[in-house]
Amino acid sequence: MRICFATNNQFKVNEIRSLLPEDIELISLLDIGCVEELPETQNTLEGNSHQKAEYVYKKYGIPCFADDTGLEVFALDGEPGVYSARYAGEHRGNADNIQLLLDKLSGSEDRKAQFRTVITFINEHGKVKQFEGMVKGEILDELKGTDGFGYDPVFLPKGKSKTFAEMSLEQKNEISHRAVAISKLVAYLIKHYQEEH
Ligand code: IMP
Repeated sequence: MRICFATNNQFKVNEIRSLLPEDIELISLLDIGCVEELPETQNTLEGNSHQKAEYVYKKYGIPCFADDTGLEVFALDGEPGVYSARYAGEHRGNADNIQLLLDKLSGSEDRKAQFRTVITFINEHGKVKQFEGMVKGEILDELKGTDGFGYDPVFLPKGKSKTFAEMSLEQKNEISHRAVAISKLVAYLIKHYQEEH
């Protein structure tokens, strides 16, 4: 079985490839000649990951999956959520996004937040299946740690004493939203593949 991961992030492709048995071939957008930007105009993680996977499935006729992740802060009614990558504006970076988040939360006692990843998989018959991964925690009022990316320096996972940015990649991968969603997808793919062949 050949499956396309609808992402331009080669790091993510390699990460999932390493978790799959060899007879499930994971290919990337580059491998199928898809160089255009995928549409991502929905206002939910579910909607966006579905939209990206559906675009590739319909245009290239290959089983595929796409992911979408957001940081959901309770006191901000789930913001930045689906807009996490561009919270402070289209061409701003992680530091600006974090600063805006801290500004909006200043004085707030409720710091509860969660990272959530939704993966949408569409199989060779067009059947859609979604997988969710989540990690709960809180937003600190200052940055701690230098590893990771995005909002990692201000996210303290529940029950942990280190932010995501203070953890090694291995430590983060043991509990992260993306790792949880990916492990559900991988389990499904292995089962699906074994049932079909
Ligand atoms: P994407 O859907 O994986 O591209 O993630 C969207 C945005 O969410 C990223 O640009 C980051 O700002 C944020 N994000 C996603 N995953 C993480 C994470 O593991 N740590 C910190 N921020 C993240």
